[in-house]
Amino acid sequence: MTVKIEARNLVKIYGDNTGKALELFNQGYTRSEIQKETGLTLGVAGANFEVEEGEIFVLIGLSGSGKSTLLRLINALIMPTSGSLLVEGQAIEKMTEKELRRLRGERISMVFQHFAILPNRTIIDNVSFGMEIRGVVKEERQKRAEKALETVGLGEWRNAMPNQLSGGMKQRVGLARALVMDADILLMDEPFGALDALIRAEMQEELINLQREIKKTVVFVTHDLDEALRLGDKIAIMRDGAIEQIGTADEILAEPANEYVENFLTGIDVSKILDASSVSKWPRELVRETESVSVALHRMKKADSDYLFVLGPRRKLVGYITRDDILPLSKKREKSFADVIRKADTIPADTIMRDIYPALRQADRALAVVDEKERFLGIITHNTLVDTLDERKGGDGIAEL
Ligand SMILES: Nc1ncnc2c1ncn2[C@@H]1O[C@H](COP(=O)(O)OP(=O)(O)O)[C@@H](O)[C@H]1O
Ligand SMILES: [Mg+2]
Repeated sequence: MTVKIEARNLVKIYGDNTGKALELFNQGYTRSEIQKETGLTLGVAGANFEVEEGEIFVLIGLSGSGKSTLLRLINALIMPTSGSLLVEGQAIEKMTEKELRRLRGERISMVFQHFAILPNRTIIDNVSFGMEIRGVVKEERQKRAEKALETVGLGEWRNAMPNQLSGGMKQRVGLARALVMDADILLMDEPFGALDALIRAEMQEELINLQREIKKTVVFVTHDLDEALRLGDKIAIMRDGAIEQIGTADEILAEPANEYVENFLTGIDVSKILDASSVSKWPRELVRETESVSVALHRMKKADSDYLFVLGPRRKLVGYITRDDILPLSKKREKSFADVIRKADTIPADTIMRDIYPALRQADRALAVVDEKERFLGIITHNTLVDTLDERKGGDGIAEL
């Protein structure tokens, strides 16, 4: 068996000056701790895996678990912060510009959930568009595009316009567009995410059949467990940037590596897996109890908020202060706001989604998420919840090349 893609202790941290964050990661700090300390996001947290030639390797995990980041690394759109990503034994971080261009343009093709189909071009012209940009001559373009359309079962639609096609057919155009470049490796980022269940099952079936014929190496991202089990020769379950388990469907179902994987397999209802800490956000501004009234006012202005949470030593939540309460102090030139700190509405970090809603309804302001030692972990507002659920509907903003 030939290894086509390999990750070795692969780490990706988003942002500039990743030195400190990487150091914390190497010392065993968690993603949320690193976020709090440095403000940087750990996208991939020390991943190790091998994808063999001709197999469908599925990446599955909740929104934000790092699936798209891994694809971007394989495609060399971004570079590892540390560790290595190898394509056919060659590390992307050591490739020359020319090698990188060839990797992205010829050796790897991507299929997206939302790819930009050009409404004023026929189907075949849509499929040959990529070749046109790369300067392939017309005859060759035509020949290859026709073949790709045949392969995905759209041969007879070559001269149709996109608006004549159903959602499933459009998705096949996307696939044809990836196949036409004849790359060995196909990266598919939730390609069927926008299709309804029936068509989706149909497309999965077709991909399996198609794969028998074309035998590409496919890395397929999904957050649908059924889809993963159906398609994956191997499945990698991701959480917070790390890979929790890799195996065949049977291996994973028979022997989940840990409790998280077990929950993932049984409690497919996302709202049961998510807890308060996973949906919380770090607030734009905070104030320490030792800081002053004027600092607090300044921060409120900066965050465009009329209140701030107050933290004590070791991130312990002290409460919150409001602008109305501290403005009079400011007029009296008092420095300390200690006397006007109010008690905050808190919620334990492991509260499950179902129980967050009622708590949020009763809270005056944002809910403060705290751990068992009353340390502040972040906030939950109505908006953070809505955002989280929206993200979960799929759709990842990787710009198409
Ligand atoms: N360009 C970026 N800059 C900063 N953070 C990012 C960027 N892209 C993704 N992230 C963060 O990295 C983490 C992993 O994201 P992503 O790989 O898109 O997850 P998934 O595809 O599994 O939903 C998330 O916390 C996300 O917010
Ligand atoms: Mg994604």
